[in-house]
Amino acid sequence: MERTLVLLKPDCVQRRLMGQMITRFENKGLHIIALKMLRITPELARQHYAEHVEKPFYPGLEAFITSAPVVAMVAEGPEVVRVVREMLGATSGRQAVAGTIRGDYSSSRQLNLVHASDGPDAARREIRLYFSETEIHPFPLALQPWLQAADE
Ligand code: CMP
Repeated sequence: MERTLVLLKPDCVQRRLMGQMITRFENKGLHIIALKMLRITPELARQHYAEHVEKPFYPGLEAFITSAPVVAMVAEGPEVVRVVREMLGATSGRQAVAGTIRGDYSSSRQLNLVHASDGPDAARREIRLYFSETEIHPFPLALQPWLQAADE
């Protein structure tokens, strides 16, 4: 069982697409066990995007990610890290294929609507950045037998 961090970025919130994105994740059968709205500070941005801080595009990325509230979520399930990344599509909305979130809703590399952890280690690190243990609410989903077989 894996967990992943999903962020609905400022463009997603400003374009009032939060509900549509959450609906896509719910329709897929993802189990959302934590959710909150927050404003990312420059310090949190530097921690979250530590691998990008030295890159030329980082100042623009920080300005963007701190420009409006985001919605942070934790989803749990088998292979959920890869499943969510594949739902998002390529980083640039101009390269993401139709049917993915970015392919359907974004035409930008920076304003690409949703972030998701790119591996299980990143997911653990990112979830800790955004959520305390008491803000995460694992619960048995009554619908589970209708989403996946018991041995999956
Ligand atoms: P995300 O999945 O949140 O992870 C890092 C983010 O940096 C990425 O989405 C893009 O929004 C942004 N990004 C990556 N590469 C570039 C780039 N070359 N120029 C501008 N922004 C980028």
